[in-house]
Amino acid sequence: MTNSNPGSSPVYRAVITGYGAYAPEKLLTNADLAKMVDTSDEWISSRTGIERRHITSDDETTADLAIKAGEKAIAGAGIQASEIDIIVVATITPEMVFPSTASFVQSALGATNAWVFDLAAACSGFVYGISIVQQFLESGRFKNALVIGAETLTKITNWQDRSSCILFGDGAGAIVLQRSDDGKKGILYSTMHSDGQRWEALNCQAYGSRYPANKNLDDMNKIYMQIKGREVYQQAVRRIVECVNQCLEACKLSLDDISMVISHQMNARIIESAAKRLKLPDEKVFININEYGNTSAASVPIAFDECVRSGRLKRGDIAIFVAFGAGLTWGANVFEF
Ligand code: ACO
Repeated sequence: MTNSNPGSSPVYRAVITGYGAYAPEKLLTNADLAKMVDTSDEWISSRTGIERRHITSDDETTADLAIKAGEKAIAGAGIQASEIDIIVVATITPEMVFPSTASFVQSALGATNAWVFDLAAACSGFVYGISIVQQFLESGRFKNALVIGAETLTKITNWQDRSSCILFGDGAGAIVLQRSDDGKKGILYSTMHSDGQRWEALNCQAYGSRYPANKNLDDMNKIYMQIKGREVYQQAVRRIVECVNQCLEACKLSLDDISMVISHQMNARIIESAAKRLKLPDEKVFININEYGNTSAASVPIAFDECVRSGRLKRGDIAIFVAFGAGLTWGANVFEF
C-alpha cells in the first residue's frame, strides 16, 4: 500500500512541527545481563551493537512513557493539547487490554478534542501511524495530529532466554504533524506492507482470545516474546532495502538527495547490512541502538529525536523513516523536514 503520489502536489501536506522522546532512567547494561544469563558484553555488542538499554521500574507503564514524549512534542510544536484532532499510540505493550493506551494519554495531556486509538503493528507501528494521519491532514479533514510510539517490552521479556532478553529496552517517542499548505515540506510518500503468513517469526501469544487468562497455558513461555532471530534478521535486511528503494523510485530521488535514513533499531548489524546493500554512506545512517536496545514502535521516533537534537538532521533536509517488525509488517515514510 502506498500513500501520496509525490509527482502530484497535494494542496496540504503533513509537516513534522514537534518531536520528543523519553526513556526510563533505570539502565540495564550488558554486564548486568551477563550476571543473569550465559552471555557476555562482547557477544551482545558484537552481534547486535547494543551496550545498554533503559528499562521501566515496576510502577512505570507504557502510558507514562508515552505521555512524557507526547508533552515534549506538543511543547515543541507550540500548540495546545486541546488543538489536537487525532492521537495514535503505536504499541504492542499497551497499558491494559482495554481501554487503549491512547485513552490514558489523551486524558493526561488534556487533548479533549481528539479521537484516539492504539495501533498494533509492532516495530512498524510508528511508520504505519504516520501513514494513517497523513491521509487526514492531506485531505484537509484535520489540522493537528500526535503520533506516539511507546513500549515497555521488558515487561514481556523472558529474562532466562539469552537469545531474546539481550535485545529489548523501554521508551517512547512522539511527533506532532500539522496540516500545511506552504509548499513541498512534509511527508512526501509512505509505503506500508504486511505478511501475516509469517506471524510465528515474532510473537507473544498470551493472553488474547487464543490463550485467555482463565485457561492453563500448555507452555508458560507463551507469556513472553518469542523470536526466530535468524529468520527475522534475513527478512528485515531484505524488506528495509526494498522499502528504501521503493521510496527513492516513487519520489524520483537519488541517495544524494537523502540526508538521513532513520531505521527501526533492531540490530545494528541488520541496519549496517541493509545500508551496505543500498550503498548508503555511514554518515547517512542513524544508529543509537547502543543506548536503547530494540524499543519496537518507539525506536524510530527516539532515533529521530536524537538525530535532530544532535544536529545530524536539519530543517529542509529530506530523510526516510523505515521499519520492520512482527506481523510481519514493514514500511517507510519519506519526508522533507
Ligand atoms: N549470548 C551468547 N550466546 C548466545 C546468545 C547470547 N545472548 N544468544 C544466542 N547465543 C548462541 C546460540 O545459542 C548459538 O549457539 P550455538 O551455535 O552453539 O547453537 C549462537 O550463539 C548463534 O546463535 P544465533 O541465534 O544463530 O545468533 P545470531 O548471530 O543469529 O544472532 C540475534 C542472534 C542477535 C537474535 C540475531 O539473529 C538478530 O538480531 N535477529 C533479529 C532480531 C530480532 O528478532 N528482533 C526482534 C524484533 S521483535 C520486536 O521488535 C517486537
